[in-house]
Amino acid sequence: MVKLNNNFNNLVSNYLFAEVANRVAAYKKAHPDKKVISMGIGDVTQPLAPAVVQAMKAAADEMGVKETFRGYGPYEGYDFAREAVQAHYASFGCRIAADEIFIGDGAKNDLGAIVDLFGPGNLVAIPDPVYPAYVDVNMLCGNEILYLDGNRENGFLPAPPDRAADIIYLCSPNNPTGAVYSREGLKEWVDYANANGSVILFDAAYESFIQDPALPHSIFEIDGAERCAIELCSFSKTAGFTGTRCGYTVIPKALERGGMNLNAMWTRRAAIKYNGTSYIIQRAAAAVFSPEGFSQAKQNIAYYLNNARVMGEALRAVNIEYVGGGNSPYIWFRCPGGIDSWKLFDLLLDKANVVCTPGAGFGKNGEGWCRLTAFGDAQDTRTAMQRIGQVLGELG
Ligand code: MLT
Repeated sequence: MVKLNNNFNNLVSNYLFAEVANRVAAYKKAHPDKKVISMGIGDVTQPLAPAVVQAMKAAADEMGVKETFRGYGPYEGYDFAREAVQAHYASFGCRIAADEIFIGDGAKNDLGAIVDLFGPGNLVAIPDPVYPAYVDVNMLCGNEILYLDGNRENGFLPAPPDRAADIIYLCSPNNPTGAVYSREGLKEWVDYANANGSVILFDAAYESFIQDPALPHSIFEIDGAERCAIELCSFSKTAGFTGTRCGYTVIPKALERGGMNLNAMWTRRAAIKYNGTSYIIQRAAAAVFSPEGFSQAKQNIAYYLNNARVMGEALRAVNIEYVGGGNSPYIWFRCPGGIDSWKLFDLLLDKANVVCTPGAGFGKNGEGWCRLTAFGDAQDTRTAMQRIGQVLGELG
């Protein structure tokens, strides 16, 4: 009889955002007259930038002409896309070679796939609270997880533990808390990883939200990271590609462990399991980092950050403690009156008709907190915050 992956039995029954979606769907079915505003999953609301759409259309036209039609592309991504990402890194001072950049169909897929590089028996350090996919991916592999407590005391930015972990997940700007590691904070992790032979998986999906010039956009801004880190990034939040799907993974050629080169391993893996991201989508993605495309993307980012400012003001007006929002699209706020996060989720849905994400869904340290996303429409965000402010004010 077939043997299945029993580790599925160790997962919580529903993925966090699926559970939220189920509850919201049930509420809407029971209350069809209510206008529910979503500040739950971080899905974008602003359309693709004109430069991106133009590039996508031009590429679609090329695909319809014999002379410019393309079949299978390179597994690792077209040179033009890798070079566009390389230029983006150079814009904040990181020297990355184009063949250290792999174009994929989104950071989430690569985050799930990256475990192919590692053998069994690794100790995996994962911050808590955290984007739930990191934990689930490692649970499915049966890996041992060492949770790193993120809390008010450390600003939700855990420092390296006393034990040596083999693989470390970091996300900065952080999902869900919006906290951002300083250069010094990341340097501690890079030194720790190089001292212990560990590999850091650095999720930089929200780097384009960083406004403070002192904060690092990439772990590769830190000396020594090229010997211990892999970075995963995405066009989803930078340029509205949540539905378009494109991301990139950076694996330096200097990253070696036990005589094996991780860049070469990922190249080999791509050839086995991937036939490349679509040409049309890679053309669209490369256009994000053109001068015109990037200035249009930055306008959308400013729009979302303005939402975050409105959200912060509304929370401060009712004395609710929060972090994030200044350099990230997420605001992480404390549930008032000792209420737990799923209860507050239900209450906000029912009384304010607003969807948040309960902190408990991001790990045990998330209990007592909730996350709001700034990716909404500006008017909806203002309406939602008025309604939320009223409910929170009454609870506090
Ligand atoms: C989130 O809301 O945490 C993200 O949008 C989910 C994702 O990027 O997969």
